[in-house]
Amino acid sequence: MLDINKLHTHYKQSKQNKKPKIEKYTYDDFDFYMWEYEEQTKIKHNVLNKYLDAWITILGSKNSRINYYDGFSGCGAYYDHHNNKFSCGSPIIAQQTAISRRIYSKCHFYLNEDSESNINNLKKVLEYNKLDLSKITFTQERYNDNINKFLDYLEKNPAPTFFMIDPYGIDVDFNTIKRIMSIPRTEIFLNFMYNYLNRFITNLPSEAGINQLYGNTDWQKFRSYKEDLKEQGLVELYRNNLKTFSKYTYQYRMSFPNQNKTYYYLFHITQNIKGCSIMKDAFASCNMGNVEFLGPNQPNPDQMVLLSTSDSKVESLKLKIWELYKGQTKKYSELLDEFIDSSPYLERHIKQAIRKLEGEYAKFNHVKERTRTIAPEDTIEFFIKPKLEPKQMSLF
Ligand SMILES: C[S@@+](CC[C@H](N)C(=O)[O-])C[C@H]1O[C@@H](n2cnc3c(N)ncnc32)[C@H](O)[C@@H]1O
Repeated sequence: MLDINKLHTHYKQSKQNKKPKIEKYTYDDFDFYMWEYEEQTKIKHNVLNKYLDAWITILGSKNSRINYYDGFSGCGAYYDHHNNKFSCGSPIIAQQTAISRRIYSKCHFYLNEDSESNINNLKKVLEYNKLDLSKITFTQERYNDNINKFLDYLEKNPAPTFFMIDPYGIDVDFNTIKRIMSIPRTEIFLNFMYNYLNRFITNLPSEAGINQLYGNTDWQKFRSYKEDLKEQGLVELYRNNLKTFSKYTYQYRMSFPNQNKTYYYLFHITQNIKGCSIMKDAFASCNMGNVEFLGPNQPNPDQMVLLSTSDSKVESLKLKIWELYKGQTKKYSELLDEFIDSSPYLERHIKQAIRKLEGEYAKFNHVKERTRTIAPEDTIEFFIKPKLEPKQMSLF
């Protein structure tokens, strides 16, 4: 907890007639500044921490070298006025995770940020946290220039690399995303700034930038759509474009903390099904079981409902799966492949749902005998009609 008497709030004048916004905080004992810690940023960081914990452990145990690349590293520090605490940004989270998993010696961190003051601040935060600066390559460049130089290097020196791409706007070139994903064992956590895109979508000078974001001009047809359909269309189009080269792509919707309106989508882009499944678990575990942050409509954990959301999710999924596959035989791996990034269900919901189908709706063939654990190669035969258990004759 920080001593509130040592904390200073600095404001910036926003547009006319609007009240000034908080720009940053300073604290007498720190030689760096901090940004306001908003609720959705906190969730983003918790998810990043949880996911990297698994990614670093798995990839670090199998490889002699792994990389973390942060294209928009930020200033490194946040102040949370709800609990009066100081928290760290994405580059520090990544390093602390590697240290806690004892994989630090195998990791290298590439931190890019185009603002001189933010990068200087970030260095001070890293020093404050006693992190080893020799494990870091700092660059102060525009993201798109920097990342393409890094990719030139990575293509010649391949190693598993996690890319954090977290801009303020939409300055993210689609062809660069495609290039990243063409390199084996890469994955991306990308902030798709929907709110920003929507603000500029009818602004002619932004057209070239949006074409670059999408890699084509198909987005233009959504300009005139009504709000909900426009959002759905633009997000689906971006996902479909990503799916042309990325096997698994799931987007987590993040609302503004105090408005029922989308702020941004966090896209997880990976070629690895396990990664996709672990990221969904990570998100749900940091967000009361849900895979979207609903801002003011977030469920209240104090108002517990009798039937847990998981139970109702599994019930509806069970029938959905049977309706889709009745009369067919599927491998579990094929079924998981189809559901994991196209539905909000976690892998454990998918497993629970197909277990509930066993007997009445489907028959399992386990590759390993005498087990009920579902393995990727297990096959499931979905009946055309539910097999009803013969009813016991009643004597009365
Ligand atoms: C959302 S913040 C990053 C926050 C950070 N990822 C975290 O979670 O702590 C975006 C950062 O990108 C920087 N930035 C904006 N445009 C940039 C560009 N074209 N290239 C590199 N950095 C840029 C801004 O100065 C800002 O610090």
